[in-house]
Amino acid sequence: MFKSWLVAGLLGALYACSATVPVNKGQEAAIYRKTLDQLTEKAISYLEVMPADSTAIPRALSPDGTLHKTTSRDWTSGFYAGELWMLYDYSGKGLLKEAAQAWTAFNAKEQWDTHTHDLGFKIYCSFGHGYQITADEAYKEVIVNASRTLIKRFDPKVGCIRSWDFNSDIWHFPVIVDNLMNLEMLFASSRLTGDSSFFNIANSHAQTTLVNHIRADHSSYHVIDFDPETGQQRLKDTHQGAAKESSWARGQAWNLYGFAMAYRETQAPQFLEQARGVAAYIYEHPNMPKDQVPYWDFEAPHIPNEPRDVSAAAINACGLLILAEQNPEYASQYLKWADATLASLAQERYQSETPPFLLKHSVGSIPGNFEVDVPIIYADYYYVEALLRRLAFAEKANK
Ligand code: GLY
Repeated sequence: MFKSWLVAGLLGALYACSATVPVNKGQEAAIYRKTLDQLTEKAISYLEVMPADSTAIPRALSPDGTLHKTTSRDWTSGFYAGELWMLYDYSGKGLLKEAAQAWTAFNAKEQWDTHTHDLGFKIYCSFGHGYQITADEAYKEVIVNASRTLIKRFDPKVGCIRSWDFNSDIWHFPVIVDNLMNLEMLFASSRLTGDSSFFNIANSHAQTTLVNHIRADHSSYHVIDFDPETGQQRLKDTHQGAAKESSWARGQAWNLYGFAMAYRETQAPQFLEQARGVAAYIYEHPNMPKDQVPYWDFEAPHIPNEPRDVSAAAINACGLLILAEQNPEYASQYLKWADATLASLAQERYQSETPPFLLKHSVGSIPGNFEVDVPIIYADYYYVEALLRRLAFAEKANK
């Protein structure tokens, strides 16, 4: 039988070489193609046991080995559809397109939900890819409607989109660093409609996040609470990190990806400076393991005996590659870190063979005591995205 872990291991060794020994650009592209071919094959084989079901959208693997299923309401509901779209775009395999269409359709009703800031994750990761690939006008309409819904949570006094509505006895207007990721859909909606208000709100949210969430060392607080009366910051907090002052690993990954993307969209130099700063913070941190897969928090209390978070590693790789795409002058350092991260994720240790997951060893929330050291769907989504970005980079350099 085809031993995909063996291929992954061999590819890992090749990647590891590619991070240290110069390989020609054609070889580099071939390495990433081979990994993507392997993941495409895996995703297609998983389809047999993943019939499209609006009540069984895959989120994570439970500790007893069963699938944690969710519905479109969950913040993770767009990732499986998005992964299928990306692999369809790469491979042209019709089975992946059919599955992507079916899983995407379940999320349509979320375009009207005003109770969440996660519309970018839910709608842009599913319908966004669908629209980019098919140019289906119905998909575009969902994206624009979702953006109109999302900006209802924007408060001009604060300058941000409100994240959560729970814990209102503690937080009055909480904004989490993760929320940067929902801005990509707003930037896209300005281009799709010509309406600059989406852009202006996204830009304001990113500027306000830069001023309030970001520490002098470029790391980020998880939660900042604002006073909606005055617009001023009232609390610094965390929800998924080890402590208020610690650096939750996925939060830093959102910080890196979010500001790299905000720079690409706005060309504001302060976003570039922040993205470059947090990239260095993450990759030069004394607690970053040699294989570049971070512990769930850079200040977790029992390092090195703490779970890693593969999802943070995959998001980091995407953020680095967005930075590298921006400017060849500083690309080489970011490519080196991204290659080392992708080499690690290709190792048997991190590859999952349990449908529908590609990777294992992610962390949802240690303080919440859920999804600890398990496969989680958003790690897979960002892994595929990073590989596609890396391949495109190699192929462009090869021309
Ligand atoms: N955005 C939620 C999380 O990163 O867990």
